[in-house]
Amino acid sequence: MKTAIVTGASSGIGRAVALELARKGWRLGLVGRDAERLAQVAEACGRVVQTAAMDMRDTAAFAGFVAGFGAVDLYVSNHGILDGRREGETVETGAVASDVLAINLTSAVAALHAVLPGMQARGQGQIALVSSLAGLSPLPDAPAYSASKAGLVMYGLSLREALRGTGVGVSVCCPGYVATPMQAEHLGNRPHEIKPEDAARRIVKQALANTRLFGFPAPLWPMALFSLLIPEGLLRLFNGNLRFTVKKR
Ligand SMILES: NC(=O)c1ccc[n+]([C@@H]2O[C@H](COP(=O)([O-])OP(=O)(O)OC[C@H]3O[C@@H](n4cnc5c(N)ncnc54)[C@H](OP(=O)(O)O)[C@@H]3O)[C@@H](O)[C@H]2O)c1
Repeated sequence: MKTAIVTGASSGIGRAVALELARKGWRLGLVGRDAERLAQVAEACGRVVQTAAMDMRDTAAFAGFVAGFGAVDLYVSNHGILDGRREGETVETGAVASDVLAINLTSAVAALHAVLPGMQARGQGQIALVSSLAGLSPLPDAPAYSASKAGLVMYGLSLREALRGTGVGVSVCCPGYVATPMQAEHLGNRPHEIKPEDAARRIVKQALANTRLFGFPAPLWPMALFSLLIPEGLLRLFNGNLRFTVKKR
C-alpha cells in the first residue's frame, strides 16, 4: 500500500488531496490544527488513516509524527494561511508579515526535512510543495504571502536539482483561486476560481508524474509565469482587477 502524509489536511485543498489519495487506496497521515475537522476528514477517507492535530511551527512534534508513521511515498506540504492588508491599510503590518512567513515558508521548509532523510535512505519518494500563482506574480495586498510562496517555489526547484538521481523527486504546485475556507478571508475578485476537488486531482496527478513546476487554471498560469518579464504598467493594468483586502479577524 502506498503511503502519503498531507499537511493542512483538515480543510480545503489538503482535505480534497486526502480524499483523492484515499480513493486511490493510499494509507494516509493527515496533519492540521483543528482535531475535530481532521477526524471528520479521516472518517470521510474511510481508509487506514493516522491523524495529528498540531501547529506546523512545532517541527519537533511533526518529526515525532513522521517517525511513528513509517515510510512515506508522497509528502504533500500544503498547510498555509492567507493574510495581508486590511481595509483602510496601505500595506500589511510587520506582525502579519512575520506570521505568514513563519507558517507558510519557515515551518514548511523545516517540516520537509523531517520527511526527507527517510526518503533518501530508501532511495525513493516524492515531495509536493503547494505554493501559489502569488509565488510568481507579486501581490501588493499580501507581500509576505507572495514572498512565502516565492520562497517555496525556489526552495522546491533548488531541492529538486540537488536531489536529482537520488530517487527522490520534488514538484512545486502553483494554484490560482480555489474555493476553500481560506478564500472567505479574501475580499476581492477571484477570477477563474476552481473547486478544491479539481485542484486536488491536478496536484496528485502532477506530483505522481514528478512534474517540476505546474500551475492552474490555464488563463492565469501563463500570466503569472511572465509577470516578472512584462512591463510594470501592463502588470498593474491586469492586477488592478485583482486588488483585495483581508477580512478582519
Ligand atoms: N485557496 C486558494 O485560492 C489557494 C490558492 C493558491 C494557493 N493556496 C494554498 O493552498 C494551501 C491550502 O489552502 P486552502 O485554500 O485549502 O486553505 P484552508 O482551507 O484555509 O486550509 C489551510 C490548511 O492549513 C492548515 N494550517 C494553517 N496554518 C497552520 C499551522 N500553523 N499549523 C498547521 N496547520 C496549519 C489549516 O489547519 P486548520 O484549519 O486545522 O487550522 C488547514 O488545514 C495553502 O498553502 C494556500 O496558501 C490556496
